[in-house]
Amino acid sequence: MAIDLKILHPELAVEVSGIDLRKPLEADVLAELKSTLARYPVLVFHDQKLSDNEHAAFTRCFGSIDAGLTLASKRKQRLKNTDVIDLANIDGDGKVLDAANARNVSLLANQLWHSDSSFKSPRAQYSVLCGVDLPGEGGDTEFADQRAAYDALSQAMKVRIEPLVAEHSAFHSRGLLGGADFTPEGMAALPPVDWPIVNTIPESGRKSLFIGVHTREIRGMATAEARLLLLDLLEHATQRDFVFRHVWHNDDVVMWDNRCTLHRGRPYDLSKLRELRRCTTEYIAA
Ligand SMILES: [Fe+2]
Repeated sequence: MAIDLKILHPELAVEVSGIDLRKPLEADVLAELKSTLARYPVLVFHDQKLSDNEHAAFTRCFGSIDAGLTLASKRKQRLKNTDVIDLANIDGDGKVLDAANARNVSLLANQLWHSDSSFKSPRAQYSVLCGVDLPGEGGDTEFADQRAAYDALSQAMKVRIEPLVAEHSAFHSRGLLGGADFTPEGMAALPPVDWPIVNTIPESGRKSLFIGVHTREIRGMATAEARLLLLDLLEHATQRDFVFRHVWHNDDVVMWDNRCTLHRGRPYDLSKLRELRRCTTEYIAA
């Protein structure tokens, strides 16, 4: 079976149709999706109403599952399938959370440019995000192509950053927004990790930046100098030419490669329900 592709952004995103994600993937379709991801790291699927088990089963075709921040959160797990990360802005009774609720702070941090689980080792490879129940307007998700961003750097900057290693922390972004609902034990379970600022993506051989809001230090560099460089790189890496914006509809599924994209949510009315669920795979480098 061949999938159908419609280009949504010339370098970054395609819409995929002709596939039912609820059914087990045939080997040739899986291979086609992987080769498409190597060229276009954001895939958009419409009208895919997945159960949590179907969502997890589809994601598992691409690698072992990453638990994200769920182990560090005080929040009681609402979903039965623990492979699925609950991104709904509701409490255990289904009531929309107050804007000031610590859980909401953590969700709002997703509006800062980031790569999922860059603060963990192993870090994330693919994320699969399902739009379950979305507000009528707002809450779009933007993706920025970090391969194009790398390519567009000056030669001097490429040479400067090639040897640099950045520290990523899960709690840096939450701290910027005033803190969130993490226990001291949970925070201790997720110590900062180091990743090179320049990646090579094995499937395409292309170099890519690997930065975002979880980066807070660069090894061997003073904090102020490091943060200014990271902010400059982020500003460069999120220019509009490098960005694709997805406008959500219920039952959309969006899948992306965290190694070569950054993403962020856009604002929405915090009094309205917004429910998404995410599954993510770990990147185990060969
Ligand atoms: Fe994310």
